[in-house]
Formats: sequence, structure tokens, C-alpha cells
Amino acid sequence: MRQGPTSVSIAPSFEEPAMRLRLALLTAAIPIVALMVYATAASGAGSKEAGASKAAVCAACHGPKGISVNPLWPSLAGQQEAYLAKQIKEFRDGVRVEATMQPFVANLTDQDVDDLAAYYASLSPCP
Ligand code: HEC
Repeated sequence: MRQGPTSVSIAPSFEEPAMRLRLALLTAAIPIVALMVYATAASGAGSKEAGASKAAVCAACHGPKGISVNPLWPSLAGQQEAYLAKQIKEFRDGVRVEATMQPFVANLTDQDVDDLAAYYASLSPCP
């Protein structure tokens, strides 16, 4: 004798182990996603708008849009923000030495540096 399926449920049941696992994963993911969003927002200590006006002196060598035309002057557009900030601070503090750069960064505050880094990181690396 042939028996048809007794109960076919198309609605997901919270009692199903697979469903419970999915719920557990989802619950675990929420704080992780929240943390990532927070970290992204918090990572940029600088303001690219403020950086844009502070970058006027830098443009002479690094280009008005962060793309350099001189092979000895690096392009900064689209470079990682944290890396840029680290390099500028190292020039300022004399850890990384470059005679042409030094005078332009010597008097920058940490906030200036963060703003400049945020600005150059926001630019497109493609001319
Ligand atoms: C007179 C030209 C000149 C000016 C003006 C200038 N720079 Fe530079 N910059 C250089 C040169 C040359 C280097 C490469 C140094 C080296 O070879 O180590 C450099 C390197 C850098 C680097 C490191 C890039 C990397 O990939 O490691 C950063 C960041 C930077 N400059 C930011 C700035 C900022 C911000 C300003 C304005 C406050 C500025 N520069 C003004 C010439 C200049």
C-alpha cells in the first residue's frame, strides 16, 4: 500500500535543527556586523573636507588630485589612510627623512595629518 506524505510543511519551523542553527548564526552575526560598521566609522579620524584645503601646499608636488607627474614624487591618491598618516607623521617627526618633504609637514598637528590622510585616501588613484 502506497502512503502519501503525512505532513508537508513549507513554512520554516523554529523547531527544525537547521532553522535553529541559522537563527543562532544570525544572532551571532549581529554584534559582529555592528562592530564592523562601528570600526569603519571610527577608523577615519580625519576629515577629507578639512584635508582638501590643507593639501594646497602638497599639490605642488603630489598633484592637485594626488596624482604626481614627477617620477620622484609619489602619487598619494587612493593610498591607504592609515599608511598615509603614518608616513606623514614619520616625515614630520624626522623618522623618515626627506629634505624636500620635511619643511611642508614640519608644523602639522596630528589632526592636520589625519585630515590630509583622509583626503588623499578618498581620491581616485586613476587619473
Ligand atoms: C617639494 C615637493 C613636495 C611637497 C610640497 C610635498 N611632498 Fe610629500 N613627498 C615628496 C617626495 C619627494 C616624497 C618621496 C620621499 C621619498 O622618496 O622617500 C614624498 C612623499 C610623501 C608621502 C609618502 C608616500 C609613500 O607612498 O610613502 C606622503 C604621505 C606625502 N609625501 C605627503 C605629503 C603631504 C601631506 C604634503 C603637504 C603637507 C606633501 N607631501 C608635500 C615631495 C613633496
